[in-house]
Amino acid sequence: MNTLRVALDGPAGAGKSTVAKRVAAALGVAYVDTGAMYRAITWKALQREIPLHDEAALTDLANSIRIDFKPRPEGQAVFVDGVEVTDAIRTLEVTNNVSAVSAVAGVRIAMVNLQRDIASRTGVLMDGRDIGTVVLPNADVKIWLTASVEARANRRYQELLGKGVQCDLQQIQDDIQRRDEYDASREHSPMVKAEDAVVVDTTGMSVDEVIAKIQSICTSAQAQKS
Ligand code: CDP
Ligand code: CDP
Repeated sequence: MNTLRVALDGPAGAGKSTVAKRVAAALGVAYVDTGAMYRAITWKALQREIPLHDEAALTDLANSIRIDFKPRPEGQAVFVDGVEVTDAIRTLEVTNNVSAVSAVAGVRIAMVNLQRDIASRTGVLMDGRDIGTVVLPNADVKIWLTASVEARANRRYQELLGKGVQCDLQQIQDDIQRRDEYDASREHSPMVKAEDAVVVDTTGMSVDEVIAKIQSICTSAQAQKS
């Protein structure tokens, strides 16, 4: 079993989950999509009509929720308390509310504990915003994956067009920028590059080029570890 622990952080649309899945599979470590965990709590809070300013209720929810990941050939399926929410957590409603929910200290404490627990049992590649700074400060590899906001917005736009969804490129860019600013300026574990993270700017790079680059960083770290 590979015990390597990789922290992959960066802003929205940088390509974290796209590359993380494939690199984790190649390395033989578990892939943990921490954004999906915050999205799962947001989905459940919206379902239960919990006011998103009610920090105590959101914290109780985060402490009682059960989130499971199940690998599927087309990607990772996500379950909340036994209900599949893989698509439900990607709606615009969840996307527009997730930053507010994930800014709540009690929610973060509950999720960080779960994430550390997973990493204590297996090698992992974890993607998120605070993995290298808070969740796994001693990770073997820390990568800050980024790209220009225009490139990131265009990727989301292409992704939606590919699914037949009509959308506005400028609106997508504005939404991404607003969410990044919110995530970077919150009080508890803001999105920030860890001092010792390697920066990979993927503007103008293909998915395969990014995967090759990240895999080579991880393979070198693994060689040093063993
Ligand atoms: O895929 P996308 O970049 O749109 O977002 P995500 O990775 O699914 O994360 C959704 C949201 O969860 C982010 O905008 C953050 O507000 C929050 N998040 C966080 O606070 N900490 C993490 N480790 C991961 C996500
Ligand atoms: O997880 P994160 O929000 O960082 O990004 P994502 O959900 O993986 O979305 C990135 C999108 O950009 C996907 O549609 C990828 O196919 C595309 N893309 C990429 O990830 N990397 C590139 N170098 C080029 C495009």
